[in-house]
Amino acid sequence: MSKNITPYKDSELGKKEQVAQMFDNISGNYDGLNKVISFGTDAKWKQKILKMVTASQPKSILDIATGTGDLAILFASTTAEEIIGLDISQGMLDIGKKKIQAQHLDSKIQMVLGDGENIPYADNYFDVITVAYGVRNFENLEKGLSEILRTLKPGGQFIILETSVPTKFPFKQGYAFHSKVILPLIGKLFSKDKTAYTYLSNSANEFPFGEVLNNILRKTGFIDVKHLPQTFGVATIYHASKK
Ligand SMILES: C[S@@+](CC[C@H](N)C(=O)[O-])C[C@H]1O[C@@H](n2cnc3c(N)ncnc32)[C@H](O)[C@@H]1O
Repeated sequence: MSKNITPYKDSELGKKEQVAQMFDNISGNYDGLNKVISFGTDAKWKQKILKMVTASQPKSILDIATGTGDLAILFASTTAEEIIGLDISQGMLDIGKKKIQAQHLDSKIQMVLGDGENIPYADNYFDVITVAYGVRNFENLEKGLSEILRTLKPGGQFIILETSVPTKFPFKQGYAFHSKVILPLIGKLFSKDKTAYTYLSNSANEFPFGEVLNNILRKTGFIDVKHLPQTFGVATIYHASKK
């Protein structure tokens, strides 16, 4: 497993409380910085996820770690009658709710304050569960994944979008410069929370990816696990199902 990296070195709070506090702090400019940091590629990766989800004609979708709700909002174009965005940061949810209201999607999408490692829904409930850049922030990855397996319907789809680390020259070196120099600098200059982007970068560098994460998913009980590296491997989409 990866080292348990937390946002604030000197805090006595647990990782989950620190993560919620950090995202509350950066919620105001999260969307803007996310676009800059990913050079707009994040929106393309999310469109790929939308395609996968649309094809399965789901009735119910849970987007864990929904943050400001971008994936949940995209899912409004699918057949789903129930779309839940779940997050532990009220600050991120509040920004998402404003975006949902502005697009008149309040009747389709519910933004719920809650923990992806203790999902407040019944067993076998959702046709699709997604998590974008959320699993690496979990306090206990295995607990979160077992909760996802519990609440996913048999035959349902589980999709993760997560950062990963390119392994080939020159992308490996370019990525190291971006994550170790550019990302913390952008955070220091533009974010209200000076250490947040250093945490996000360190956690991205330590988190298991590719076959290692696939094996964790299989060990949890997921089936048909596969991964699709994106843009030279700077992010990866994982796809899995339940027996
Ligand atoms: C990097 S943001 C990603 C937001 C959004 N999914 C996106 O693609 O932009 C990570 C989000 O995960 C949330 N989060 C972290 N741990 C969580 C948990 N255990 N349960 C639910 N949300 C969690 C944070 O509050 C934060 O909003």
